[in-house]
Amino acid sequence: MAKHLYIKTFGCQMNERDSEIIEQLLARSGYVLVDGPETADLVLVNTCSIRDKAEQKVYSLLGQLAPLKKENSRLKIGVIGCVAQQEGEKICKRAPYVDLVVGTQQIYRIPSMLDRLVGGETSREIDTDLKSSFTIPAFQRLLKGQSPSPAPVEFRKFVTIMQGCNNYCSYCVVPSTRGREISRPVVDILEEVGILIDQGVKEITLLGQNVNSYGQTNPVDDHSVSFADLLHAVAGVPGLERLRFTTSNPKDLSKELIDCFAEIDILCPHFHLPVQSGSNTILQKMNRKYSRESYLEKVAALRMARPDIALATDIIVGFPGESDDDFSRTMDLLETVRFHGSFSFKYSDRPNTRSADFPDKVPESVKKERLQRFQARQDQISLEWNATYVDTVQEVMVESTTEGKARGRTATNHIVHFPDTGGLCPGETVDVQITHAGRHSLQGEMLTTDVTC
Ligand code: 5AD
Ligand code: SF4
Repeated sequence: MAKHLYIKTFGCQMNERDSEIIEQLLARSGYVLVDGPETADLVLVNTCSIRDKAEQKVYSLLGQLAPLKKENSRLKIGVIGCVAQQEGEKICKRAPYVDLVVGTQQIYRIPSMLDRLVGGETSREIDTDLKSSFTIPAFQRLLKGQSPSPAPVEFRKFVTIMQGCNNYCSYCVVPSTRGREISRPVVDILEEVGILIDQGVKEITLLGQNVNSYGQTNPVDDHSVSFADLLHAVAGVPGLERLRFTTSNPKDLSKELIDCFAEIDILCPHFHLPVQSGSNTILQKMNRKYSRESYLEKVAALRMARPDIALATDIIVGFPGESDDDFSRTMDLLETVRFHGSFSFKYSDRPNTRSADFPDKVPESVKKERLQRFQARQDQISLEWNATYVDTVQEVMVESTTEGKARGRTATNHIVHFPDTGGLCPGETVDVQITHAGRHSLQGEMLTTDVTC
């Protein structure tokens, strides 16, 4: 009989991909994904600890799950991901009904850990080992012949190329939750991309905390392969239509990588390049190892290589010691670069980070006001950018269609809504004439008529 699996995923795309891999690995042991915990035999909470209140969120969800165990004695509850890594056994002290705690490097072991639990060999499984010599297993071989996820086949997928981070930005929890940077071998990545394309995937996003340093700190093959080399190799896999990647640290953004935007036609002209602050004083305190000036030079080079590139960024406001003057430099950077979009956050102290001990914490009210100012200006700029697409024709990859309405994405990552006049399928690319620009999306009319399904 099929066993029911429910996974609740918090946080980033890396976690989303990890959850998918776990779903697929568990499908081999007969688990079927369900969309609520009520009927589940196994509930996994995949956690994120990047910003404030992450731990509280996890404990409050666990509190809600606890009564289900009384109703269903077979139910196993597991906590995985970054909070599991960070808290370890503490989770079981606060939530004694938790059966499984799995750190970020150990997710591939979940099926065997579960076998022992279900078979009664152990009453609890905890593994939060985090090694610098870790090798990401060639899990993709196990997934051959399976659907890319027990969920319906999707046309776009993430592929993790590395995990961990060696940068130690002073505010960031990732080096302590995900460990040292570890790159996957090129052959494994290409094999996974090939399997996904065979299953109908058309767009791949390569994932890592700092993809620009792929292959640098632990040479993954006999010869060193740079991230630019990897991009060329992945772009060469037949059948791939769109290629993206995230995330990049500006300090490691090489000329070779910038050139990829001119050389690789399926590499989408959309780049997420987190700057975090426009003030050199704050960048230094953040240990970012680049300056405002060098960031601007890289932006200019990217725009030279690919004039239609859409740039996005991450910003932290209210870092310890951030003065009004420092913040005005961030606002000024926004005016200079005019990002197409951004993700902006109020600084929060995280465990095991250097900035948690920094003096001159910025009051909450000031952080809130700065965040609002930044976001209001970003919204105006995004709208101004979006207006420049009106009357242009964009290639749009369809994401979904319901009741005659289609939603898709341009190569620049803009969402487009348009009437579906021809029974479109997700993954299909059509030409759309843009007729209207909103702050967060575009609208248009489809020009292509020879749709394929
Ligand atoms: N406080 C606020 N924002 C943070 N980020 C990372 N750590 C913190 C923190 N301690 C933001 C950064 C990063 C994004 C993923 O989350 O902007 O790029
Ligand atoms: Fe959260 Fe970062 Fe961990 Fe992703 S890697 S789950 S964003 S802390």
